[in-house]
Amino acid sequence: MCGIVGYLGKNEKKEILLDGLQELEYRGYDSAGIAVIEGEKLNQFKAIGKLENLREKTKSYHTEGFGISIGHTRWATHGKPTELNAHPHLGAYSYVVHNGIIENYQELKAELQAEGVNFLSQTDTETIVHLFEKNHKTNKDVFSSFEATINRLEGAYATLLITEADAETIYFAKNGSPMLIGFHSDDVYFASSDTPIIGKATEVYYLEDGEYGYAREGVVKLFNAEGEKSFTKQALTADKISAQKDGYRFFMEKEIYEQSRVMGETMMGRVLDDSIVFDELDETFFKGIKAIKICACGTSYHSALTSAYLFERLAKIRCDIEIASEFRYKEPLLTDDTLFITISQSGETADTLEALKMAKRAGLKSLSICNVDNSSIVRESDAAILTRAGIEKGVASTKAFATQSMVLWMLALYMGQQRNTVSKKVLKTEISAMLHTPKALIVTDELHEKLHRLSKRYLHGHGFFFIGRDIFFPLALEGALKLKEISYMHAEGYPAGEMKHGPIALADSELFTIALMPHTMHYDKIKSNVEELSARDATILAISPLPFDLADDFIQTKYSSHPMVEFFEMMVVTQLLALEISVRLGNDVDMPRNLAKSVTVE
Ligand code: G6P
Repeated sequence: MCGIVGYLGKNEKKEILLDGLQELEYRGYDSAGIAVIEGEKLNQFKAIGKLENLREKTKSYHTEGFGISIGHTRWATHGKPTELNAHPHLGAYSYVVHNGIIENYQELKAELQAEGVNFLSQTDTETIVHLFEKNHKTNKDVFSSFEATINRLEGAYATLLITEADAETIYFAKNGSPMLIGFHSDDVYFASSDTPIIGKATEVYYLEDGEYGYAREGVVKLFNAEGEKSFTKQALTADKISAQKDGYRFFMEKEIYEQSRVMGETMMGRVLDDSIVFDELDETFFKGIKAIKICACGTSYHSALTSAYLFERLAKIRCDIEIASEFRYKEPLLTDDTLFITISQSGETADTLEALKMAKRAGLKSLSICNVDNSSIVRESDAAILTRAGIEKGVASTKAFATQSMVLWMLALYMGQQRNTVSKKVLKTEISAMLHTPKALIVTDELHEKLHRLSKRYLHGHGFFFIGRDIFFPLALEGALKLKEISYMHAEGYPAGEMKHGPIALADSELFTIALMPHTMHYDKIKSNVEELSARDATILAISPLPFDLADDFIQTKYSSHPMVEFFEMMVVTQLLALEISVRLGNDVDMPRNLAKSVTVE
């Protein structure tokens, strides 16, 4: 995802920007750029690919004395990763960097083009700088021109603007995308998260939505819709690791909380009002495709299993799922009318990569769903859809699973659109449920506190069964895997209807059943399955929007009208349950024993 760094002061600006951007590298990006104004001198550099390319380009460039500067790493959303599309974007005499999405940019762009403005890039961001210069033409005051510009923007943004018309000031605005201001003596820093400024700034102010203003001579003036406002700086930690955890105890915890936000990024520019768009796929991509085969490992395999229900239901296309390590040695029959999809958080999992190579040798078209651009699996595939979860540090995958499941849901709907298997009405219902998902992923204090309290009753026993039906069966598998990974207790996921065919023999009060009981899917059926377990004295933790008398423990979820929304809400509950049990057992939540984040051996 995109990253922003800005600096106003006397120190070497190039290094501050490049080092700061380096700290944001983990978010993923495909191009980077910086712009510096020092006295009369204005310099700008951009490079596609890694930051080393930008470092190479700026090798002989050094800054001296007071100046203003902005930098950016870009993850392409509008327009391909090219130098022209990289930030900072230039007007006639001003530069802008921006994170987020300007939803009305087409309207603004058309307006500016009608007045003769020439656009160099395909980005939404470039409209900001041209709009500013247009306002500045009629209204000579720089700040009010900036203010008028911000007032026209719709959507999410965190933006910095510098201009030769006021070469000692950085203008900023924030709405919907994160940005903060760092302070140390007369130096002022800007960044989209605090890691780039740790060790440099000693105090910080986290901007709120709707705030904007400017920094000049070490002083920041802050405004919102009501006018100028005062603000209180807070001390900034000097500890990078704890800063990276944003105040959470563990990376996994932070990543669970992040899911609501990253889901917005996963959908950005892809889920429109009445259609799903994947710029990554050309129109003929699915030509001749009659079936789908998906290969993956671990958590990614569980998101694949979920998607099989969605592909068959929405796109009416046959979809088979295989564990990559099994697929490789089973001498599979492959035909070239099958689309081969690999799913991988890291993009480096050896078994998945080898399965992909096998499928390619057999002449299959390939698509990868991955969180890491330029990873081996992405490079090996004919096309790739990035999940945009941002780096995941906890070994137990959470937000990667959530974003994979979302991309697969979107892809099933996208194929349904192309294959005319979804009506306009269904499309509308699905899209509105997708847009509702970030809300369903918000972790409330009540929920977390309840799971914290309840977790103390689940630290022993001879095993956990997570049970569910339909898409809640793969979710049960994933819930059990999370618990296994970080609590080291035995847990299994099972289709609820299968319990009576064997596992019910284990039922007693020391067998913990985590029952996923959505009201949108086969509620009565799963209720009967849980009743059968309860009759045999199994301890039941029910997760459902509908109260359930036989439950020993009960987590009430919201009453959503779409199964996928219930799916994501229940996913959060299972993740937090695993986390809290692991914490009580004193385990290393982020780095569980024997496990690795990226498994590059078979
Ligand atoms: C490892 C990780 C799991 C992950 C699996 C597949 O086992 O510990 O969390 O699900 O690999 O990884 P991938 O990067 O391909 O999704």
